[in-house]
Amino acid sequence: MRIGPHELRNALAVAPMAGVTDRPFRQLCRRLGAGYAVSEMVTSNAKLWGTDKSRRRMDHAGEPAPVAVQIAGADPAAMAEAARHNVARGAAIIDINMGCPAKKVCNAAAGSALLSDEPLVARILAAVVAAVDVPVTLKIRTGPDRVRPNATRIARIAEEAGIAALTVHGRSRACMFVGPVDYAAIAQVKRAVSIPVVANGDIDSPHKARDVLAATRADAIMVGRAAQGRPWIFREIAHFLATGEELPPPTVAEALGWILAHLDDHYAFHGEEAGVRIARKHLGWYTRDLAGAGDARHEFNAAETTTAQIAAVRRCFDRLADLGERLVVARAAGGVVHTMPAGARSAKPTTQEAATPWGGEALAA
Ligand SMILES: Cc1cc2nc3c(=O)[nH]c(=O)nc-3n(C[C@H](O)[C@H](O)[C@H](O)COP(=O)(O)O)c2cc1C
Repeated sequence: MRIGPHELRNALAVAPMAGVTDRPFRQLCRRLGAGYAVSEMVTSNAKLWGTDKSRRRMDHAGEPAPVAVQIAGADPAAMAEAARHNVARGAAIIDINMGCPAKKVCNAAAGSALLSDEPLVARILAAVVAAVDVPVTLKIRTGPDRVRPNATRIARIAEEAGIAALTVHGRSRACMFVGPVDYAAIAQVKRAVSIPVVANGDIDSPHKARDVLAATRADAIMVGRAAQGRPWIFREIAHFLATGEELPPPTVAEALGWILAHLDDHYAFHGEEAGVRIARKHLGWYTRDLAGAGDARHEFNAAETTTAQIAAVRRCFDRLADLGERLVVARAAGGVVHTMPAGARSAKPTTQEAATPWGGEALAA
């Protein structure tokens, strides 16, 4: 797939997820097969650009090209300024967030709340496209709610405005993360425009990736939650799409190597104290479904230094290695998941996750 002058390595993207896809995690996903990554959203409110969180979100040092930065907001002039600001800091692609239903975005009538105001959408897109000389992309949902689907109209507005590619999460804003993804709506968008379209929503296995590509005829797919704790899903999908064969699950040693490399980057990026704290959720995701991981999560959470946390990870993986060479996987509805005893991860989010899967993550401050 092509975005402006950038030919992507493959048709696989890691979704922007505030509080999850920071630079170290994006880089890990890229190393493990994702051809494209978009940053966590950065607010268009310039007053917040000096906060630690914004500064980290705007730090792209060492990130593989093309660096894509997502901006969120509702004021065309502020969005244009945010686009210029991020291009000056290394963004080679600007992505506009009109897909996020999070309260803190939507309270400011940004994110997916914008979908119900098509003239404003047109003004924001025009302002941002005019402000920068890099490709501008857009991420949307199927509409404000199920009875007012307008993704096709928004897609035409986007194409008209000069948007270079469009990602569609196949749920309405009102649906949050609940209910089935409307892949037919994504297919309809794809038929309506000639710019590249990326399909997103509930892709959690190589087979699902293939099926979504076939059903939507999209140019690429984007994976979000299924990559939490399982960034190697990108190499599994890439391999399956290229060969029609499933890769075996990673070996325990491979997974440990990737996780330690992730932690290394992660601690360097966030620092010791915040690094240890933020790593807890990643480590919880990495191990929550693994046979033999036991109460490892408790150990990761109890650790207060990077050294102690790494030691806990090593102990956990020593236990896993005693059980077999490879991570244990099981079949579950919706795809292959790394799972085992009770508490096996469902392909679907819990009710709580469905409501606010980012835990009320703020835009920037
Ligand atoms: C924790 C979390 C944070 C998210 N943050 C963003 C964001 O910053 N920008 C955005 O456009 N979408 C955001 N999303 C939505 C995802 O990019 C994606 O559209 C959604 O999770 C559906 O894809 P999935 O089913 O593969 O997870 C977020 C989702 C989650 C779970």
